[in-house]
Amino acid sequence: MAILSAKARVAGIIGWPVGHSRSPRLHGYWLEKHGIDGAYIPLPIPPEHFATAVRGLMHAGFAGANVTIPHKLAAFEVCDSVDESARRAGAVNTLTFRDGKITGANTDGWGFLANLRGHGVDPKAGPALLLGAGGGARAIAAALLAEGVRVTLANRTSSRAEQFVRDLPGPSIVPWEHRDAAVADHALVVNTTALGMEKNDPLRLDLSRARPGTAVADIVYVPLETPLLRDAKARGLIPVEGLGMLLHQGVPGFRGWFGIEPTVDDDLRRFVAADLLPK
Ligand SMILES: NC(=O)c1ccc[n+]([C@@H]2O[C@H](COP(=O)([O-])OP(=O)(O)OC[C@H]3O[C@@H](n4cnc5c(N)ncnc54)[C@H](OP(=O)(O)O)[C@@H]3O)[C@@H](O)[C@H]2O)c1
Repeated sequence: MAILSAKARVAGIIGWPVGHSRSPRLHGYWLEKHGIDGAYIPLPIPPEHFATAVRGLMHAGFAGANVTIPHKLAAFEVCDSVDESARRAGAVNTLTFRDGKITGANTDGWGFLANLRGHGVDPKAGPALLLGAGGGARAIAAALLAEGVRVTLANRTSSRAEQFVRDLPGPSIVPWEHRDAAVADHALVVNTTALGMEKNDPLRLDLSRARPGTAVADIVYVPLETPLLRDAKARGLIPVEGLGMLLHQGVPGFRGWFGIEPTVDDDLRRFVAADLLPK
């Protein structure tokens, strides 16, 4: 545990609950690696106190904060200004406090793209099929659309997919029941649903029609290798695990708060993954 000076920069992760978050481990690794006079702490804040607490953190001298479930929409509302990534996703996961103003960004989509590239996958290789229409899907779709990628959406609840494209125009919709057939027409398939998480059912998706070279990404990262990724690997497709997205989405926040561009490498991945293995 580092000893802080009175000039230490402080940031953290706001969630409710927040005990499951791996962000303190991620940012703590970078802080230690770079010998930074700073700290990154868990901030359990219930929804009814969110806006007051965020302004309080700013006035207490925090550099900023990450925001996770269930606050990403409320974080959008509390900002004085948001960047294009947050505006398109309609949600904020990274807050920066400067000169008494709160600015918001959504780095999930950026992290998703950086992780794809880290696996040697060009996001622009072809159209993308997104399964799910929640917060994660919005950030990823916004990032893919900004790259000029054609996006197709399949979601269990069709009204939610329809609302999605009203808020974020561009994607076409295929019915959830037709998702298997849609696989053949896409170069990238992404699970953005909560299916495949430990204790949840696996995502049922038939990859037998996938073209050779199709990349199959899962944003679920507990377990590290979901049933979908295992299946993709067994078929010789390109599996892209969700942990990398989590690691990369932290980069812009860390850079903004602590002034150093951190790297995502195998040592970091091993360090964070060690906390995800069954105990
Ligand atoms: N790797 C990362 O950095 C990262 C970042 C963000 C999120 N995540 C992970 O991504 C997952 C989704 O997060 P989120 O914030 O997007 O959640 P969310 O906004 O609550 O959306 C959940 C999505 O999952 C679908 N879903 C849930 N249960 C389902 C079921 N039984 N059958 C079919 N679809 C189902 C929902 O469909 P309906 O609309 O039909 O309910 C919805 O599309 C979580 O596991 C989260 O931990 C990872």
